Amino acid sequence: DAPVIAVDGPSGAGKGTISHLLADRLGWHFLDSGALYRVTGQACLIEGVSWDDHPAVTEVARHLDVSFTYAESGEVLVAYKGADVSAVIRTEEGGRGASTVAAIPAVRDALLARQREFCRPPGLVADGRDMGTVVFPAADLKFFLTASAEERAERRFKQLISKGESVSLPRLLEDIQERDARDSTRSVSPLVPAEDAIVIDSTTTTIEQVFDQVMLEVAR
Ligand code: CDP
Repeated sequence: DAPVIAVDGPSGAGKGTISHLLADRLGWHFLDSGALYRVTGQACLIEGVSWDDHPAVTEVARHLDVSFTYAESGEVLVAYKGADVSAVIRTEEGGRGASTVAAIPAVRDALLARQREFCRPPGLVADGRDMGTVVFPAADLKFFLTASAEERAERRFKQLISKGESVSLPRLLEDIQERDARDSTRSVSPLVPAEDAIVIDSTTTTIEQVFDQVMLEVAR
């Protein structure tokens, strides 16, 4: 099978940036597993399914008509039933929906095979929470990126502001702490580093420094 690099960690730890850079540098495929959960949450809103209706959400996940296309700008376009949902799934509400539906074991099961299909030559960089523990336990290299909740809220704040969303920093911090708690206490695939993961704390380092550290490991 093709080689896999797993990049896991909590919200705002820089996983997205690092794994995109890494996939680009290596010329490998990229799996944004969070986007699958975000689209599932959004699809429920579109189909009129409540996030609390576990059997119905599971059906939505099982039949999820999602596609990822890469624009020339390097931007990833995410579509549900052919309609662009790229922007709406990235909002704070999109994140809440994702983490709510992601706590349903049958939903995680329903998305498992779909995630594994991304593993094709020449290789895959997989971004998520459970890439190294559940989806690709035999990954060749596993990173777990983390940072303090305050630092992650600050980064998220800058990101959302630059997209023109009006957000408050204290609200974001609360949101991140709530999401951390939900992600790390759920009964299936809780957010913990794989035993063989390289843990990188970026609270006081820049994304560039983290990327250098990651590339050093990849080059070994
Ligand atoms: O940018 P951020 O890390 O907040 O979001 P994301 O990676 O798009 O993931 C959104 C939500 O999906 C997370 O809060 C998790 O609850 C869930 N998720 C998951 O459970 N497992 C994954 N492999 C990826 C995301």
